[in-house]
Amino acid sequence: MLQRGRIPFTILATDISTNVLEKAKLAIYEEEKVLPVPPELKRKYLLKSKDPHKKVYRIVQELRESVSFRRLNFMDGDFGFREHMDIIFCRNVIIYFDKPTQEKLLNRFCDYLSPDGYIFMGHSETVLGMDVPLAQVASTVYRRSA
Ligand SMILES: C[S@@+](CC[C@H](N)C(=O)[O-])C[C@H]1O[C@@H](n2cnc3c(N)ncnc32)[C@H](O)[C@@H]1O
Repeated sequence: MLQRGRIPFTILATDISTNVLEKAKLAIYEEEKVLPVPPELKRKYLLKSKDPHKKVYRIVQELRESVSFRRLNFMDGDFGFREHMDIIFCRNVIIYFDKPTQEKLLNRFCDYLSPDGYIFMGHSETVLGMDVPLAQVASTVYRRSA
């Protein structure tokens, strides 16, 4: 159960690969992957394996319950999202597609984004030169513009 006073949220996690989704559902991460997590958040949201030989952490149930998983191919016509999203994290995926396809995909993301919603992308990805309603606010972060 989320603590009182917290902003309520849900996360929809998608991938084309069911293997990737099954792995993500386990919510288990090796120690090196959680190194950048600040100690306070680590204490609150990560459980260390009781087995001293396994240097792995699992996300606490409270957070796991806020995430739903769905297989989605970004090349499909309709994503079937029922609600707008405040933030879309799509890191290191659009690099697989050519520029016209990237532009089409980013415009589709914008259709599903709340006004003033954000898209986070990977460091080697950009919307530069594309006709998309996004304004850059940080190196890999874009905000939906009118
Ligand atoms: C390089 S990984 C990036 C994973 C993660 N976002 C990250 O930054 O660590 C690319 C992911 O894109 C997924 N992917 C590839 N083609 C896709 C498509 N057409 N639709 C949705 N996901 C796709 C792959 O299955 C893979 O999990």
